Amino acid sequence: MRLFIAIELPDAVKRLLGGLRVDIPGARWVPPEQIHLTLAFLGEVDEAALERLTGELARIRVPEFRLCFSGTGCFPDRRRPRVLWVGLEPHPRLKHLAAVVQESVLACGIPREERPFSPHITLARLRLSPSRGCDAFLDRQPQQQLPPFPVREFILFQSRLTPQGALHTPVRGFPLAGADAVGVA
Ligand code: 2AM
Repeated sequence: MRLFIAIELPDAVKRLLGGLRVDIPGARWVPPEQIHLTLAFLGEVDEAALERLTGELARIRVPEFRLCFSGTGCFPDRRRPRVLWVGLEPHPRLKHLAAVVQESVLACGIPREERPFSPHITLARLRLSPSRGCDAFLDRQPQQQLPPFPVREFILFQSRLTPQGALHTPVRGFPLAGADAVGVA
């Protein structure tokens, strides 16, 4: 199975993010219902590693938190944008969650991701050279219109590659520790 681990966003937030779409030739925009915050991409994982992984992930104890959006950006850089995203304000619990998820992945013998974790929500993937639409997207400051959202669980997703694009199906959700359980608001 081809797997990744991500945080789901509330439907209303996904709709608002879908509304940031601009006209860019050759761009593939993530369908609003599939927009997510990736914590780790695992690639192909066999059944034995999957069972071990779900056991490891279920042991993670990170308290719930809220995330706030920051501005738009792109990878690898503005001269050669390939991925357009909207960023998130750094949050120590998000950083910690990504780190412990990576540790669980490594403990199951799945190779570590090369890139350091940089919290972003991919909205589009580009194939052609930068265009005016790219600048319009990157000059936007949408954070005032995007509400903070609660993170109460993380999800192991299967990604199936189809001619119509990747299909994501949740395999299992892992709740974070509730505010009552850890004594924080
Ligand atoms: P992204 O949000 O940084 O684009 C599911 O495919 C998710 O896994 C994508 O949203 C993507 O995160 C991430 N990912 C990381 N490396 C990947 C790879 N080599 N192939 C596909 N997806 C990858």
